[in-house]
Amino acid sequence: MKTRPSILVIYGGGGTEHEVSMVSARYIIETIQKGLRHEVYEVLIDHQGVWNLQQGPKSTPCYLRPGKQLCVQNEIGHTSFIDVDLVVPCIHGPPGETGDIQSHLSIYGIPYLGASPEASKICFNKVSTKLWLDALRIPNTPFVFLDELNEENLKRACDFFIQTGTTPEVFVKASSQGSSVGCYPASNLSELKTAITQAFQFSPYVLVEKRLYGRELEISVFEYEGNLHTSYPGEIICPSKFYSYEEKYSPKSTTNTVLRAPGLSAKTVEEMQAYAKKAFRGLKIQHLSRIDFFLTNKQEIYVNEINTFPGLTPISMFPKMMEASGITFVSFMKDVIQQCLKQS
Ligand SMILES: Nc1ncnc2c1ncn2[C@@H]1O[C@H](COP(=O)(O)OP(=O)(O)O)[C@@H](O)[C@H]1O
Ligand SMILES: [Mg+2]
Repeated sequence: MKTRPSILVIYGGGGTEHEVSMVSARYIIETIQKGLRHEVYEVLIDHQGVWNLQQGPKSTPCYLRPGKQLCVQNEIGHTSFIDVDLVVPCIHGPPGETGDIQSHLSIYGIPYLGASPEASKICFNKVSTKLWLDALRIPNTPFVFLDELNEENLKRACDFFIQTGTTPEVFVKASSQGSSVGCYPASNLSELKTAITQAFQFSPYVLVEKRLYGRELEISVFEYEGNLHTSYPGEIICPSKFYSYEEKYSPKSTTNTVLRAPGLSAKTVEEMQAYAKKAFRGLKIQHLSRIDFFLTNKQEIYVNEINTFPGLTPISMFPKMMEASGITFVSFMKDVIQQCLKQS
């Protein structure tokens, strides 16, 4: 007879953040074991998309089925079943932050931690995020978006570039990517065209954004004990002013992070926190998110992007900013898991 709820942590996924997701999953599993003592099962989605139950050194193919069960196939063709009360889809980027796994879980009626398929999809696509932010009247970086690579769109992009100011510079971004992949600064028309062509190789839509000069700030937004909380803004201090793939992951990175961005006025902090809550509620995000901002040299606030399943390693900004605001990661996980189990 089952005495305690079982939680399935799914990680990997084969995307650019596959390895980071494994570190996040380790931290989540340790936190659950420390704070809740629930039964924890682990599934690694490998680079080929195969689901494997991890039990010590043993890795066994598995799949979910309706009725909240994980089916595990052993070497001699027998299938065993594990009851699943809750899934933690611990995947940054596809197929987790895109909402695909959450759709799969919804179809099978399996409760999960984090944003719904719809909220995940809207936030993962940089174009749809901006359209929603505009609709919610939340300031975000001025942009044009291109639905295909053609002469008319290149002209629109060039016109936008020329309008951006006396020293025009823009950021070109593939719509559905993360980790700064498919994201390029462009400071002349020739660079702009090359960047657009490259970005279209990653996504069917491309954004051209005005380059903002100032600071990169982030806020943890999370639900805890029935209330929505925001952390104090943290800061990414990147000397090259482009937090690129190398700056994010290379050991040679010169970027620093600060949990409490120094020198912000109370008004700026309040406004940022209010926008963060408005975005979280307006986009119907659940449980957790990290919302990234730019604060320009003129003190204007712009939302850059919304991460519905941010990095959760022991050194990631989301849990550290949460802890700096007085709520431990273990208390958060305990509360959020209890809420999910109650609703299931
Ligand atoms: N409009 C912009 N102005 C200035 N810097 C930008 C702008 N857009 C992106 N950047 C830089 O590029 C980085 C990656 O862009 P971002 O939109 O956050 O993509 P990703 O989802 O890959 O993190 C940012 O962290 C920032 O350093
Ligand atoms: Mg980013």
